[in-house]
Amino acid sequence: MDAWLNTLGGRFIVFDGPDGSGKTTQLKRFVAACRDADAMVEELREPGGTAIGERIRDLLLSHGEEDIDPVCEMLLYMASRAQLVACRIEPLLEQGFLVVADRFVSSTLAYQGAAGGVPEEHIYQVAEIVCDKIRPDLVVLFDVDEVTAGRRLSPLLDRMEAKGRAFHARVRKGYLDQAQRDPERHLVIDASQPPDKVFEDLLRGVRERLIEDGPGA
Ligand code: TMP
Repeated sequence: MDAWLNTLGGRFIVFDGPDGSGKTTQLKRFVAACRDADAMVEELREPGGTAIGERIRDLLLSHGEEDIDPVCEMLLYMASRAQLVACRIEPLLEQGFLVVADRFVSSTLAYQGAAGGVPEEHIYQVAEIVCDKIRPDLVVLFDVDEVTAGRRLSPLLDRMEAKGRAFHARVRKGYLDQAQRDPERHLVIDASQPPDKVFEDLLRGVRERLIEDGPGA
């Protein structure tokens, strides 16, 4: 058992990466390991994680009758996030929970920004309003090329997954640029490896960043 997982209370970790990176499977396994270590941990997903957020998720991921304008799309993701931050993330962190989120602002920067063409400074401005003081302690980026990722997706693609290979290549680059700009806050993991090896790298990386290099280390 990894007893150190029990010492991450009050931290906020984001799991992010392209569609098909395997981040959600790794998140479930990470959260299960935290529970085995008796940690107070809560997992949340974006878009969604609240009743309103899940309704916005349906709107964003279903194939609707008209195209969604990129700014409208960005604001809908942010609206779901505003509800999640106010109603779940802030109270949970205050209560001392470790919060693990499947996606956060890093997704908006990669999908609507780098791939969708919404200026990054606009995304940061809205994020400032939406996130209050909340910033992830660590963004774990599951990196995978778009060809490998595409092979892992179910053939029934949702609206975002169906945007094509060139779009998803820009998403990946958007994530890698974020990690390069702010290496302290990002942990990049090669998600094309077998799942057990990805999990091993994940545990080692989180431990190195948040325990060994963290405050009081
Ligand atoms: P999921 O499949 O990981 O739950 O993510 C839902 C989709 O929404 C995925 O294709 C990525 C996309 N997305 C954005 O485009 N912008 C965002 O801000 C978020 C949170 C997700």
